[in-house]
Amino acid sequence: MSDSKALDLPRLRQNCPDWTIDIHAELDSTNRHARDEAARYQTPAVIVAESQTAGRGRGRNIWRSHAGSLTFSILIEPQQYGISATETPLLSLITAAVVRETVVSLQLTSSADYQLKWPNDLYLRNRKLSGILLEQTGSQPPRLVIGIGLNVNNSTAGMPDEIRESAVSLIDLAGSPLDRTAILSQLLLTMQRALEDEAFRQQMFPRMWQRDHLLDGQLVTIEAGSGNDEQFLMGRCEGIDETGALILRDHLTTHRIVSGVVKQWTD
Ligand code: BTN
Repeated sequence: MSDSKALDLPRLRQNCPDWTIDIHAELDSTNRHARDEAARYQTPAVIVAESQTAGRGRGRNIWRSHAGSLTFSILIEPQQYGISATETPLLSLITAAVVRETVVSLQLTSSADYQLKWPNDLYLRNRKLSGILLEQTGSQPPRLVIGIGLNVNNSTAGMPDEIRESAVSLIDLAGSPLDRTAILSQLLLTMQRALEDEAFRQQMFPRMWQRDHLLDGQLVTIEAGSGNDEQFLMGRCEGIDETGALILRDHLTTHRIVSGVVKQWTD
């Protein structure tokens, strides 16, 4: 089941009056578009594509855009909100928490079923519901592109074999199509609140990450670095520190991992 209902642009604009909203039927990648065209948008902006032909993910990941999902990039200027360069990397963790807050508010299931996974994924009952990709633009003052893929009305039944078991979509939970315009509006408003309100931002990070992190206590394998510096680390996850780094403890030492790809995790 998928909804062919287009996003309602007038309603989005009415719900989110402070946002520049740009909807495309197809783009190669909303992140690529937002980066290359960053200078021509008034921020905050959201660039949505109903379909992406070359959706990008973290590391070597690709992101497929199935009809009925939400694929979009948020373009912001952190300085506009007094967010310093040191706090900027935390915006990807904050965004994952904002996506979680948004889907929890739909009340489709217990909030405990939604878990964040470092560095910026959202899982629903151990399956991936949303992925986030944060990229810098070259502009001055710095602008940031936060790409979000969220499975909404694209049922796993229509997904390719290789991801069907590991992915999940909200429609699988709800049983009938959801209002994507309402979900996107809610997400943008929650993001705006996180950007404007430091106390709310802290509820998103560190608080939500301390409470609802899928990897805490798990035995985790991470691929860190790249090229000649590439290494695999395995250890018990002891949470996330105040800078957003993942803390892994092995029998010798404690690793503080700033960036990497989680390859697997078990109890
Ligand atoms: C990941 O899970 O590795 C991150 C996936 C991010 C996908 C989104 S979809 C919208 C935006 N445009 C892209 O090309 N990628 C992001």
